[in-house]
Amino acid sequence: MDSKLSSSHPNGLAFSDALMREVKSRFLQVDHDHHGRERLYFDNAGGSFRLKAAAERFAQVDAIPDNTERIHATAVELQQIQARGCADLRTILNATGGSVYASLTASGAMFDMVRAVAENVPGTNMVTTVLEHPSAFDAMSLYAQRLGRELRVAKSNPVTGGVDVDEIVRLVDKDTCLLNVIHASNISGAKLDMEAIVRRAREIKPDLYILVDAVQHAPHGLIDLQKTPVDGINLAPYKFFGCRGSGLSWMSDRAAVLPHHKLAGKKPDYWDLGSASPWQFAVLTEIVDYVCWLGSHFADAADRRELFVAGITHIELHERALLAALLDGTANAAGMRRMEGVNVFLDYEDLSKRDLILGIGFDRIDCTQAVVEYAKRGVTVYERVASSIYSKRMLESFGLTGTVRVSPLHCHSMADIEKFLRITREIARNAQ
Ligand SMILES: Cc1ncc(COP(=O)(O)O)c(C=O)c1O
Repeated sequence: MDSKLSSSHPNGLAFSDALMREVKSRFLQVDHDHHGRERLYFDNAGGSFRLKAAAERFAQVDAIPDNTERIHATAVELQQIQARGCADLRTILNATGGSVYASLTASGAMFDMVRAVAENVPGTNMVTTVLEHPSAFDAMSLYAQRLGRELRVAKSNPVTGGVDVDEIVRLVDKDTCLLNVIHASNISGAKLDMEAIVRRAREIKPDLYILVDAVQHAPHGLIDLQKTPVDGINLAPYKFFGCRGSGLSWMSDRAAVLPHHKLAGKKPDYWDLGSASPWQFAVLTEIVDYVCWLGSHFADAADRRELFVAGITHIELHERALLAALLDGTANAAGMRRMEGVNVFLDYEDLSKRDLILGIGFDRIDCTQAVVEYAKRGVTVYERVASSIYSKRMLESFGLTGTVRVSPLHCHSMADIEKFLRITREIARNAQ
């Protein structure tokens, strides 16, 4: 985000009531579940609210039986949908050139990208961080082991909840084959300083290959590959207001032509394997349309990237205001920082360095029990405990055994946060 705008709103900037109503009306199941039961869904890091337009477009486009690789008008229409979606992924990332890879999951794409670099780029070591999702971490371990490379793992910082730039950069040298870094942690919400990481790592090895997992960060903040030129980056539309069954990645020109699984007759930079699903691209376009629509309330621009930047910036500012309210409360509800019996973990002061996601714990009940207590009161949150493969390594790096992960979305209002705070206080009190 523009640093002036960010620093002038250290505690965020909530949407107006009118805009909040419009935002809510564009999403499915924001205040009620699919049975019409009232609920607060605060597990968006596990799968986000869907845009109505995305769900409708998914059904519309997937209902078309035509094969994209034909000469007919419908096939041409599908090709155009695909081309638009590819352009829109570049809009989200501020990318030029390169290849777009549509896969079934973000995890699958990450394994494929790691494999292509690891198998084809020389080097004696591979560098990653302890906070990676298993899709990046396990891919790095697997190929490091298979190819006889040393795997170097940067430690986390329990104060910021992230990984320090120095800690990553000190592991990189001229023999590093690949650096793989998560954009923001899906456990702590901490954003990594991608600009400094890319710049400083390439000062050590100018042609270093860098991959980034942006699954967590993409729906919450700005990505700008002009400032952070990496070789591969993935996102998951189902965590970004879209639909499941889709992972979308972008690769730089040089990474895209590395040998990879592909049909021999396709161009060297082509990554899709088998028949494309045009709905994946149509849904991405709906996501970008929505963020641009939001942006049009704040910026008077015709350029799609400019509108997207305005939209995602205000999503970030609204979410920062929600995070500040969760921590410090509002005029109507006490915040969790001072709530008796409640602990906020990895609670870094500077909210501009955090996505809207946080880990909490209770003095008198464990995380599993807390999740049940929330569910009884119509709130969906989830535990991230050390017995889960999805959180063990990260939690242990912070010296934690478990947290209740709270992940609302910009579709939530201050009133939703206040309701959550009152329920949290009730759970803490009842546990005494
Ligand atoms: C940070 C992060 N990276 C990658 C993934 C994997 O995404 P997918 O479920 O599409 O494979 C997830 C999903 O939980 C995630 O949170």
